[in-house]
Amino acid sequence: MKPRCIQPGNGTRMQYCLAMLALIWYVFKTTIPSNGFGNRFASMIIAGNWKMNLTRQEAVALTTAVIPAASDNLGIILFPPSILIDTVRDHLASGNGNGGEGIALGGQDSHAAVSGPHTGDIAAPMLREAGCTWVLLGHSERRADHGETSAMVAAKAVQAIAHDLAPMICVGESLNDRQSGRAGDVVEHQLRDSLTGVEPGACFAIAYEPIWAIGTGKTAGAGDIAQMHGHIRSVLTSINADHASVPILYGGSVKPGNAGDIFDQQHVDGALVGGASLDADQFLSIIRSARSRA
Ligand code: PGA
Repeated sequence: MKPRCIQPGNGTRMQYCLAMLALIWYVFKTTIPSNGFGNRFASMIIAGNWKMNLTRQEAVALTTAVIPAASDNLGIILFPPSILIDTVRDHLASGNGNGGEGIALGGQDSHAAVSGPHTGDIAAPMLREAGCTWVLLGHSERRADHGETSAMVAAKAVQAIAHDLAPMICVGESLNDRQSGRAGDVVEHQLRDSLTGVEPGACFAIAYEPIWAIGTGKTAGAGDIAQMHGHIRSVLTSINADHASVPILYGGSVKPGNAGDIFDQQHVDGALVGGASLDADQFLSIIRSARSRA
């Protein structure tokens, strides 16, 4: 399934509608949230979650290495720490013409409020103003470190979408959940609760990240990934038919050595990469794997 934010329109009436095109284009530009890929999801998305890593100089060097990897049939998203977003944005802009424009930028979190007394937090319109088109929400590290609940994630997602950011909403079970056979139920609850209030047609993505696989070098087996992604697809569809083609990324110790197997699984539309996204060679190798399957 090729994920699409907007289903391609039926062009059969175009010859009757030249005058309508300008209006349609205006409505399209002004009402549909963008995701940095021309409002349409690429067939595969590779996202780099830099977490709380990299100096400014290292961020520039990594961005420089990634810019030539941009291509039309693959979406690349970088999620730098918020203090580095401007630097990465400017560096991507200077790489335009060399592919930098095909790389989208995202924040690692945004608050449910637009502004106010929330020391240390960042608001969705701030990220949008800084050039982001995406925001990571509900990462398990934020759920654990900051006590974020799925209800909070949903409130953040609604606010992000209202400010033209596409949320990448993270879900995933603990080792205990998996060992006790509750992984599917846990992920389904997270999904339903994290998507409360998200309107049909909104641009967003899901990242399935089993907590026990993040930063541990352990990856879920290909069969488990395929099963969980199929489950997520059917839960999304049952929430709303419009959510059926939302991209579902896998995350958790994705490396060059396992990326190909992961991308071969049905309903895997890309990867959210942590540790390996900090190493240009590893990240580029994962991008090549995805591109060969896009
Ligand atoms: P990892 O992190 O690739 O280092 O496991 C993934 C993530 O947390 O997004």
